[in-house]
Amino acid sequence: MSEIKTVGVLTSGGDAPGMNPAIRAVVRRAIYHGMAVKGIKRGYNGLIEDDIVDMNLRSVSEIIHRGGTILYTARSKEFMTEEGQNKAVETCRRHGIDALIVIGGDGSFRGCRALAAKGIKCIGIPGTIDNDIACSDYTIGYDTALNTAMEMIDKLRDTTQSHERCSVVEVMGRHSGYLAINTGIATGALCILIPEKSFNVERDILSRMRETQAQGKKNFLILVAEGVGQVFKIAEEIQSKTGIETRATVLGHVQRGGSPSLRDRVMASQMAVKAVELLSNDKYNRIIGMKYDRIVDFDIEDALSMEKELDPHLIEVAKVISI
Ligand code: F6P
Repeated sequence: MSEIKTVGVLTSGGDAPGMNPAIRAVVRRAIYHGMAVKGIKRGYNGLIEDDIVDMNLRSVSEIIHRGGTILYTARSKEFMTEEGQNKAVETCRRHGIDALIVIGGDGSFRGCRALAAKGIKCIGIPGTIDNDIACSDYTIGYDTALNTAMEMIDKLRDTTQSHERCSVVEVMGRHSGYLAINTGIATGALCILIPEKSFNVERDILSRMRETQAQGKKNFLILVAEGVGQVFKIAEEIQSKTGIETRATVLGHVQRGGSPSLRDRVMASQMAVKAVELLSNDKYNRIIGMKYDRIVDFDIEDALSMEKELDPHLIEVAKVISI
């Protein structure tokens, strides 16, 4: 029998489609192992403010297909302070929470590290649309966000084509270009600007537009990652230097919503079950990941010190077929 009798679960940072299936799987697997489960509301804020509910098998019914997170989420400023963390530890002790499962991104995992240092056992599950967690090839929410962005850009293409315009589109991703490079390839963008690679407007956009225009191209799609930004400035420059009518669109938070895709539901379920299995074997202070299609886990400290490189092959593919 595991020494863990009560497990707390929370979602933290930006929400991601698939967080609900992850919560569902944590609750169901933990109950299977005889553990009690406490749902912590609004990320680490719920620990600071003692906003905690008991969860049972039925608390997670009818959520597998729902976007967002039934536990709500937050980026807790107070939890970044020593005082906030101490309050969180006291709340865990008061509720008899032996271990925490945290679904979120890098910032949330730094929270796990802080709590682990104060004696609270933690497991992190990567949940963010950005796919920017170094210890994992995949993060929950990424697939749904990719498809949402792709569908919206397909719609933009229609109007861009009808008006023979140029569209400059910003997709999310914080400091990472995963969403941009993949949606750019999938929607046939002429140029994809990502934070991982420096760019020059004349060389990477204008000259390619002129070159393809000479070959008969009449509408243009320029994908810009959030980490590059400046879509309105870039659009103005394109219009003033090429004479082609140009519009800028920021897709924004709609990319974080929607019913999770099959891949996100399955991945979330697998990662969450793995998190509970670790606890049931008295293993903790680990971050779950997916590597080469296998669910794996790493020490928190190791996971946070890893780096992730955008696949250079994807960058090459985007370049050679965007003409
Ligand atoms: O991490 C997910 C994400 O959507 C990023 O792509 C984006 O930079 C950020 O969150 C936006 O955060 P907020 O919802 O706080 O504006």
